[in-house]
Amino acid sequence: MAKKINVGTLISGGGTNLQAIIDACLTDSIDADIVFTGSDTPGVKGLQRAQKANISTFVVDYAEIIRSCKKGINDKDLPLDFDLEKIVSKQQLVETSALNEQMIFFLKTRAIAERKLLDIMLAYDMDLLVLAGFMRVLTPYFIDRINTEPGSYKIMNIHPALLPSFPGTDGYGDTFRYGCKIGGCTVHYIDYGEDTGPIIGQKAFEIEDNDTLDDIKKKGLIKEWELYPQCIQKFADSLNR
Ligand code: GAR
Repeated sequence: MAKKINVGTLISGGGTNLQAIIDACLTDSIDADIVFTGSDTPGVKGLQRAQKANISTFVVDYAEIIRSCKKGINDKDLPLDFDLEKIVSKQQLVETSALNEQMIFFLKTRAIAERKLLDIMLAYDMDLLVLAGFMRVLTPYFIDRINTEPGSYKIMNIHPALLPSFPGTDGYGDTFRYGCKIGGCTVHYIDYGEDTGPIIGQKAFEIEDNDTLDDIKKKGLIKEWELYPQCIQKFADSLNR
């Protein structure tokens, strides 16, 4: 039997993708175990799903951190190894010429939150980090501390559209409003841009003329639940080769 990989998971909400991955692990359909589930939001249903499966959970409350940063950020609040210039030069979220106070505030608050995530996560033995409906952009501060081997990606994300179309926060909504006749989902690795990393797998579905946005979300989620475990298995196979 192939060696199982250790998967960390981050969520923000209902966690139906997390559930699909939990089920795939429990039925041995994939060579993986989930070692933790972290959330940026307290009280979400995905945390209960993890606890029910005896997976250890934690919360780093992003909204609370952002609220507190709005009162002012002192240098001592930032991680000791925070290097704004380096992060600015690596990030591909906005054009460097568009970097303003707002973006710098964003990069600082995210690094404060990301350090808290890392302090908890790095205590686990983890081969792969899976973002399962985690609705926060990760910055180079975090990414570089997970992707420590040059050229190897260790963070996977699922996006509710056929990338490179419709990156951003509302993939199915954007697909619907554009009037697409085909929708889909994408699993990709995280790089320094927003939804720009190498594609691992995609699944598509047809959109009928009378489909509502809700119909599209339902069709899309069914595809996501199939696709994510398959992509995690692809990663496990690549380590077990
Ligand atoms: C899923 O549709 C996923 O593709 C999307 O959030 C939903 C989470 O559902 N992710 C993103 O939009 C990431 N930018 P779930 O909590 O039931 O898995």
